[in-house]
Amino acid sequence: MITFDQERAFDSAQVETLLDVAFGPDRFSKSSYSLRENVAPLTHLSWVARHEGRLVGTVRFWPIHVQDMIRGTKEQALLLGPLAVAPDMQSHGIGGDLMRRALARANASGHDRILLVGDHAYYSRFGFEHVLPRYITMPGGKDARRLLVRQPATMASLPAVGKIVSVADALPVPAAVAVPRAPALPLCA
Ligand SMILES: CC(C)(COP(=O)(O)OP(=O)(O)OC[C@H]1O[C@@H](n2cnc3c(N)ncnc32)[C@H](O)[C@@H]1OP(=O)(O)O)[C@@H](O)C(=O)NCCC(=O)NCCS
Repeated sequence: MITFDQERAFDSAQVETLLDVAFGPDRFSKSSYSLRENVAPLTHLSWVARHEGRLVGTVRFWPIHVQDMIRGTKEQALLLGPLAVAPDMQSHGIGGDLMRRALARANASGHDRILLVGDHAYYSRFGFEHVLPRYITMPGGKDARRLLVRQPATMASLPAVGKIVSVADALPVPAAVAVPRAPALPLCA
């Protein structure tokens, strides 16, 4: 029997192992990972699936900011993912079940601005549509064509021109790592 639970701190190691298997060692080079650096997943919204005690599925949420490049404003949003199911347990509906639970919990918690980077062919069944023709870029300018948003309320709230930025960018730089200002150089030597 498959059971579904909110992710707990002790699940973290098994989740990372499952993500290594599902996405391979390259996963950290994806643009979405730069949004996760130094940011913790929202575990109260994240789910795991288990089969006979083994963790076989995971879906997580991360906080992000959507910056409006015209107005200069910044809105909070959720980045859904990664979503992964153990290869030997795929096509049994576990991914779909994780998605529906995750979206229901996020909506019930008041979040309706939910984005993800993924295959439209899979995620359209959960109400996700391409962000295009809105021009919203991911870090590094990658993956814009795979950026999806949950319709319809979310789409209406997105800027026409924007970029996804890490919530870590909004954190103050700790004094210990603050870069000292270089002494002013004379304009002409
Ligand atoms: C995507 C994934 C989470 C789906 O999990 P799952 O438990 O197999 O999902 P479900 O059982 O709910 O749905 C399976 C269906 O989705 C389809 N599907 C899976 N990945 C798909 C994709 N990238 N594009 C289109 N359809 C896809 C399967 O072919 C299957 O179709 P069927 O029902 O007609 O047989 C799983 O395949 C996985 O972990 N893949 C590797 C990691 C990954 O790619 N994550 C998503 C990032 S885009």
